[in-house]
Amino acid sequence: MLQATLICLVNAALVLAQSRQRISLNSFSSFNTQNLAGTSFLLPRADILSVSVALCSGNLGSSTTRFFVTNASTTDDPGPEGGTDVFELTMENGLGVFQGVFTDGGILAVDNEDNEDLSFQIGASDNGPLHETLDALPLFGDTTANQALLFSPPFDPPSISDPTYPNYTLPIPGLDAPSAPSTSPNFTLVVAETSASTPLTSLQQTACRFSSQRSSGSVVNESLWLRDSDGWRTQWILNGLTSQTNYTAYVIQDSVKLSGPIYFTTKTAAFNCPLVAFLPYCPRISYAIPLSTPQTGSDLAIYDSTNLPSDISKPLIGYLGNFTTSLTTFACGRDYYSPLKSCADCQREYQNWLCTISFPRCGETSTSSSRKRQDGAAQDVFVSPALASQESGAEPRNPNFPAFSSSYELLLPCLETCFATDRACPAFLGFGCPDTNYNAAVSYGVGYIDGVDSDMQGEGMTGTAQDRYGNVWCNSGGTNPL
Ligand SMILES: *[C@@H]1O[C@H](CO)[C@@H](O)[C@H](O)[C@H]1NC(C)=O
Ligand SMILES: *[C@@H]1O[C@H](CO)[C@@H](O)[C@H](O)[C@H]1NC(C)=O
Ligand SMILES: *[C@@H]1O[C@H](CO)[C@@H](O)[C@H](O)[C@H]1NC(C)=O
Ligand SMILES: *[C@@H]1O[C@H](CO)[C@@H](O)[C@H](O)[C@H]1NC(C)=O
Ligand SMILES: *[C@@H]1O[C@H](CO)[C@@H](O)[C@H](O)[C@H]1NC(C)=O
Ligand SMILES: *[C@@H]1O[C@H](CO)[C@@H](O)[C@H](O)[C@H]1NC(C)=O
Repeated sequence: MLQATLICLVNAALVLAQSRQRISLNSFSSFNTQNLAGTSFLLPRADILSVSVALCSGNLGSSTTRFFVTNASTTDDPGPEGGTDVFELTMENGLGVFQGVFTDGGILAVDNEDNEDLSFQIGASDNGPLHETLDALPLFGDTTANQALLFSPPFDPPSISDPTYPNYTLPIPGLDAPSAPSTSPNFTLVVAETSASTPLTSLQQTACRFSSQRSSGSVVNESLWLRDSDGWRTQWILNGLTSQTNYTAYVIQDSVKLSGPIYFTTKTAAFNCPLVAFLPYCPRISYAIPLSTPQTGSDLAIYDSTNLPSDISKPLIGYLGNFTTSLTTFACGRDYYSPLKSCADCQREYQNWLCTISFPRCGETSTSSSRKRQDGAAQDVFVSPALASQESGAEPRNPNFPAFSSSYELLLPCLETCFATDRACPAFLGFGCPDTNYNAAVSYGVGYIDGVDSDMQGEGMTGTAQDRYGNVWCNSGGTNPL
């Protein structure tokens, strides 16, 4: 009789142990507390295991469920009473991660005392946490009244190798767009009005929580684009947004990682500058320009390399070619004009400057929340963007642009784009920038990124051309985004 009872107990323990669902290595599983088979899970073996739990329902701070792990060889569920090698996952904004030695595997237990209805994911990996909040942010390109141009965080930075003497050839950059990488992360954009009754920032900050959100507007184009040396990005063009509205944007990567938030504001209904993007010779240019709306016959009413007037693109490519010819009269790679800069640096900076001044950027006073927003700053300082009003039919800054049919506000180039070229290029080319003490502010945004004494790098009024809140103070041609 005694023996039978013992067998029974042993069996019960075995059944309990066996009924635990196994979490396999380098994968995640989704659960809901209302239909769990058991309250604990078997974790896989790994020398260093990263266990992550992501909450997929509810708002920040709403969950009372706790998660405990142990790496001890035991059949008991780890829990609030603690014990040797029992650890509680610290949940931060809906995400909890524990990293430790799990040479014999381990157990993760769900402590749901309040019988909360909660969806969650458990991930286990021997290669860093599967669930993650990314430090890299999405990138804001620009908006019109009802469109937005946005980018994912970058991946796959290109390997840049400068040419060497005696074969120091500098091809004209970007005449052929590089071919996209064969594999890329799966990025998904989530956009919502900042003033929504449940704003995105109030949700658990996890990829699974966001993947169930309805996103504002409609993505009319999603492509991979190599913008700069940071790497490839997914570029989205969103249509159907509401004018003069603040939006919040996040990007989900591979269903488990979340990047954001960034903020942006659509322009007023009167704003009539269309977007330009997809220019291989100016890969960072992706903003609104003073040109009549392109007739594309599709929802994608933007300029790209196929419909941009050749009166604009041809001379630009010609300048780049002629500049490169002059530059390489110098014995690049054999002689040095600077201990820090090469002919290739000079060409890169010149290209960026040329693109920035060749494509005038439209801005708008009414929608720019013209303040410096620095996290931790005691007070926001009022800083107006570098806008210059242009009369209807006025002589355009780039004479290859036709006069624009209405008045608009021009966002002046950041003076730093000129100084970067000046610093990177040999003096014999005669490249020069206007004097900050004299007339520079007529044609450039002065003192935003660097202080007015140009040795004060990053010490200007804003320290940056644009920030994550959608403020854009001067046109940097897409460099120095944050
Ligand atoms: C459990 O974790 C502790 C603390 O990291 C470690 O010292 C111990 O070796 C681990 N035990 C096993 C069986 O992996
Ligand atoms: C010089 O470099 C270019 C570009 O890297 C290459 O296409 C070309 O074949 C090289 N020429 C010689 C003579 O090595
Ligand atoms: C997006 O637009 C670009 C430029 O117009 C075009 O080359 C590309 O094929 C489009 N991609 C999709 C998915 O529509
Ligand atoms: C957008 O947000 C900014 C800063 O949070 C605020 O000052 C502004 O009034 C908002 N604009 C609109 C149109 O809601
Ligand atoms: C990409 O991710 C989204 C949401 O996270 C998912 O719905 C979609 O199926 C994924 N696509 C691919 C090709 O994996
Ligand atoms: C480039 O140089 C050639 C020869 O000097 C000249 O004919 C041409 O006009 C120049 N192109 C531009 C865009 O300045």
